[in-house]
Amino acid sequence: MTVALYALGAGAVTTSLVKLKGRLALSKAKHRSLTGHARMARRVAGMIPFYEYGEERFFRADGAPDDVAACRKAGFMRLSHLYKERYAKTAQLTDEIRGGISDLQFTDAYRVPFQFSRLVREHLQSGSVAQSSDGVMLIDLDGNRSYDLTGAYGVNLFGYDFYKECIKRAVSDADDLGPVLGPYHPAIVDNVKRLKEISGLDEVSFHMSGTEAVMQAVRLARYHTKRTHLVRFCGAYHGWWGDVQPGVGNPVTERETYTLNDMSADTLRVLATRRDIACVLVNPLQALHPNAGAPADTSLVDSGRNAHFDREAYAEWLRQLREVCTRRGIVLIFDEIFLGFRLAVGGAQEYFGVKADMVTYGKTLGGGFPVGVVCGRKDLMRRYRDDRPADICFARGTFNSHPYVMTAMCEFLRRLDTPEIRALYDNLDETWNSRTARLNERLCATGVPVQVANLQTVWTVLYTQPARYNWMFQYYLRAEGLALSWIGSGRFIFSLNYTQADFDAVADRFVAAARAMQQDGWWWADPAATNTSIRRKILREIVAHRLSKRP
Ligand SMILES: Cc1ncc(COP(=O)(O)O)c(C=O)c1O
Repeated sequence: MTVALYALGAGAVTTSLVKLKGRLALSKAKHRSLTGHARMARRVAGMIPFYEYGEERFFRADGAPDDVAACRKAGFMRLSHLYKERYAKTAQLTDEIRGGISDLQFTDAYRVPFQFSRLVREHLQSGSVAQSSDGVMLIDLDGNRSYDLTGAYGVNLFGYDFYKECIKRAVSDADDLGPVLGPYHPAIVDNVKRLKEISGLDEVSFHMSGTEAVMQAVRLARYHTKRTHLVRFCGAYHGWWGDVQPGVGNPVTERETYTLNDMSADTLRVLATRRDIACVLVNPLQALHPNAGAPADTSLVDSGRNAHFDREAYAEWLRQLREVCTRRGIVLIFDEIFLGFRLAVGGAQEYFGVKADMVTYGKTLGGGFPVGVVCGRKDLMRRYRDDRPADICFARGTFNSHPYVMTAMCEFLRRLDTPEIRALYDNLDETWNSRTARLNERLCATGVPVQVANLQTVWTVLYTQPARYNWMFQYYLRAEGLALSWIGSGRFIFSLNYTQADFDAVADRFVAAARAMQQDGWWWADPAATNTSIRRKILREIVAHRLSKRP
């Protein structure tokens, strides 16, 4: 009896120790930033009180002297006049619709750090409505033509005119059938054939958005592996479904997601030892900024934003992931919704030379219409079990395989095979790396504290000296006729139809914007300031406001 009790006790201790070891390994594989700790991030976000700088503080939050603050103010008011004149109609219509569109209120509130946002909203409205597109230009309601760096969230790979033509063709091809749902439009035959070839995978399923494609891929991985957890990498975006977007922005606590450190041996150890991992989701865009979230200007409180793309290092990381996933029966999912077709016709799989078990596509593949697609191995795509007829994996959607989406996709894929489109992929790395390098040389020669980092046509702007006003740069860029998305200078997305002349025009405007911002004094720096000292100062402000607001 006593021996049995000892044995039981020893067993329990051993189990606890094994569990503890697993937990410790998991903790070690989390990135040390708040982005790597979803629950803590949400808790911290909930503690930050709103406060804002009045007009006086707005221009000297970094302790700049009077003359610099005055110079900034003059520059700000000059921009304000320019915006008010140039974007009058566009801003007016935006004002009219703002109250009824929650998304617009959200994006408008989150363009710059919140302490500065009211004055910026009052003075620097360029509006959120566009009238037309033409080549690489966007035209607003006032007739202003701006070079498009928004890339329509990544959809615009070949130029807007390409998608207009896809849509025209799609509408005419699907018109006889109309919006009939249920039976497929025959265009689906070509789509499935081409997607199987491009992905190198066996089966395809169609969805309405990228978010849904990711949901379906993860659900299938869980179903087939009979395991619970998905692994995503710190900072990676995979749509707004709760399981892939834990932390700030999602009020529900995730239960079956591990957010791990990208490009880390600790992560590989977790994958090699845990038994509850169904799949690993990779967004190859993270190769540009591993472990960091979308580089929005709203979080640009200092110059800490960092990015650097190393193709070989990331390819090696993917090879290691591939190896451990194969060994452990974990489903490796490449989420190519953003980068698919951009890096290469065969996407990230081709570009990095690593095969996934499932791939999600979306955005550009719809030929201008909304879409999400999962391609996968036959055994993983199956939604039922032969030997357990009641055990199914359900996925439907009213608008899946919509006839007009299928015909637009068909046209997109047809054109993808044409020599003109294939030619756009020639020397992509060289072209865009040398454009980046030349612009960086010019910025350096101009003496402005700005550089850009790129993953081919996807860029982020970096700031090379500690500063509190880098978020103002987006307004100087817009003033020079560059159209940016709501995350400002965080991400530029070029389409492949940018000619050298188009690009040179963008580069000229970019340099002019940086020069103007410098002349207006925004990059004045206290020689003693560092990014850490700036962050500490803001933290002290936050604590002081929180304490002062306590009842
Ligand atoms: C990598 C990735 N996955 C998923 C999504 C979500 O796609 P959608 O916005 O179509 O739902 C996005 C959107 O930006 C994305 O970039």
